[in-house]
Order: sequence, then C-alpha cells, then structure tokens
Amino acid sequence: MSSDHAKSSSYLGLHLNPAEFRKACGAFATGVAVAAVMGRDGKPHGLTVNSFTSVSLEPPLVLVCIGHKAATHGPFSSASAFTVNILSEEQRDLSARFASSHPNRFEGVDWYEGELGAPVLNGALAVLECEMRERMEAGDHTIFLGLVRRAGVRDGAPLVYFSGKYRELK
Ligand SMILES: Cc1cc2nc3c(=O)[nH]c(=O)nc-3n(C[C@H](O)[C@H](O)[C@H](O)COP(=O)(O)O)c2cc1C
Repeated sequence: MSSDHAKSSSYLGLHLNPAEFRKACGAFATGVAVAAVMGRDGKPHGLTVNSFTSVSLEPPLVLVCIGHKAATHGPFSSASAFTVNILSEEQRDLSARFASSHPNRFEGVDWYEGELGAPVLNGALAVLECEMRERMEAGDHTIFLGLVRRAGVRDGAPLVYFSGKYRELK
C-alpha cells in the first residue's frame, strides 16, 4: 500500500485509491481551455484547465477550479475578472505552454485585454469574459465562479482531453 493510499484511506474513512480516482476522473472527456487574469503586477497570468464547467444559464455562470499550489492561484484570488479561452485542435502547443513552467507563458502569444481587462487569446475557438462572483475553497483547489459578460465563438473543432492525452474529434 502506498503512503498516498494510506493517507487517503484514513480521510473520512474513505477507501479510495488515488490512482484509481485520477483514472476514473480522466475517463470524463473534456475540452481544454486557458483561464486567464490580469495580475496586480499589470501582467497577464494564465493556466491550462479542463475543470471549466458551465453552471447556470440564467444568470450565465461558469466555473474553473485551480489548485492552491498553482502559481496563477494568487493572481486569480485577487482578480475581479477572468477569461476562459477554449482551445481549438490546432492549439495543442498553447495548452502545453500554459501548463508548463515557462517563466512568461504569454511571450510570443497573440492576446489582448478584453472588455473586463482580462486577457483574451486571439484564435481561441471560444472566449468567455467573466466578472469574478465567488471563490469557494474545495479541498486543495479553489472554485472560481464567474458571471459571463461576453461570449464569442468561431467555427472550428475543439481540442479534447481524455485519459491523460490530447485527442481530436473525428
Ligand atoms: C489538459 C490539462 C488540464 C488541466 N486542468 C487544470 C485545472 O483544471 N486546474 C488546475 O489547477 N490545473 C490544471 N492543469 C494543470 C495546470 O495547467 C498546471 O499545473 C499549471 O499551469 C501549473 O503551473 P503554475 O503553478 O505555474 O500555475 C491542467 C493541465 C493540463 C495539461
């Protein structure tokens, strides 16, 4: 039994193997997005997420979950707006870039400040510009809930993530 397993087993009396948990969650195919904010430092910050979920139509609410250890967690915690840039199948490199330890992920990336001040990636399949509404602590992640103020979509195919790998819809 791994120490990870031992730790999880004792939590609330659950008998859950963390590897199985990750594998089971990974069986849920998702799109891939870059969630982004403007930091108090005046610089754009963003990370690759697949935790994006549409929550409500009226009012239009969406959420992303960000791990406490992510460097972008701080900027998200103090931001009043964020964007969700849904990636197309041609943007696999952007997904890798925004999940990497690159010191300046926006370097060489085509982006602009959207209406709410948060960064918008040119060429994204769809973009949602959101006003930050609520932050909810959930285990080792924070759930950031946003009210969608603007949304746009172009024709194209999405980048898909399934079982730890990028896929394309065929
Ligand atoms: C496809 C994919 C989806 C991801 N989804 C999330 C997510 O929803 N939330 C999260 O906190 N990290 C997610 N990550 C990991 C972050 O992108 C990555 O760990 C993060 O950029 C760490 O860098 P930072 O600490 O510099 O922010 C995902 C990574 C990939 C490749």
